[in-house]
Amino acid sequence: MDISHRNRTLLKVIVLGDSGVGKTSLINQYVYNKYSPQYKATIGADFVTREVQVDDKIVTLQIWDTAGQERFHSLGAAFYRGADCCVLVYDVNINKTFETLNNWHDEFLKQSDANDPEGFPFVLLGNKVDVNGGQTRMVSVKKAKEWCVSRGNMPYFETSAKENYNIEEAFLCAAKTALENE
Ligand code: GTP
Ligand code: MG
Repeated sequence: MDISHRNRTLLKVIVLGDSGVGKTSLINQYVYNKYSPQYKATIGADFVTREVQVDDKIVTLQIWDTAGQERFHSLGAAFYRGADCCVLVYDVNINKTFETLNNWHDEFLKQSDANDPEGFPFVLLGNKVDVNGGQTRMVSVKKAKEWCVSRGNMPYFETSAKENYNIEEAFLCAAKTALENE
């Protein structure tokens, strides 16, 4: 397959969700194949990059990790602007992290200045499905998928950063939906 420079694309992906849901852990698995059980809050925001092949294109994902903690929310519009996809993350074991998805979703659209808010690509990740073998899950797959349908049919993935489960698939989907929206 001919993968030439002409086919290179940079896609900006913003990862949002409550503190502790595993945003940093998912990104660290995806980019560095590393996982740590220690929690270290993200302060502010920073990006890492990874290349991924989508059909005959090599795409560089510029993945922005953000702070879930309220007191670190100081980034605002400048940082969301130019985003090609937004990955929302919640913890399937904590209901509140699912309920706040509405805020993250609406806030993102408000601040990102997307020219077509209805069609903007989002992907939802229900993380930590490994915890207690799923015995402590609070949000059902059905409920999560219903929310996705109500929010413009966004794709849904259940993930585990700890067990490196479904992360490749989730970010590949983010890349694809972002490309389709270009
Ligand atoms: P903020 O930076 O505060 O917004 O949090 P975050 O969303 O980046 O969460 P982080 O990735 O730091 O993970 C929080 C804690 O959950 C850490 O102790 C992780 O090790 C743990 N964790 C993350 N993902 C998983 C997972 O899939 N399974 C389990 N069991 N633990 C996880
Ligand atoms: Mg973090």
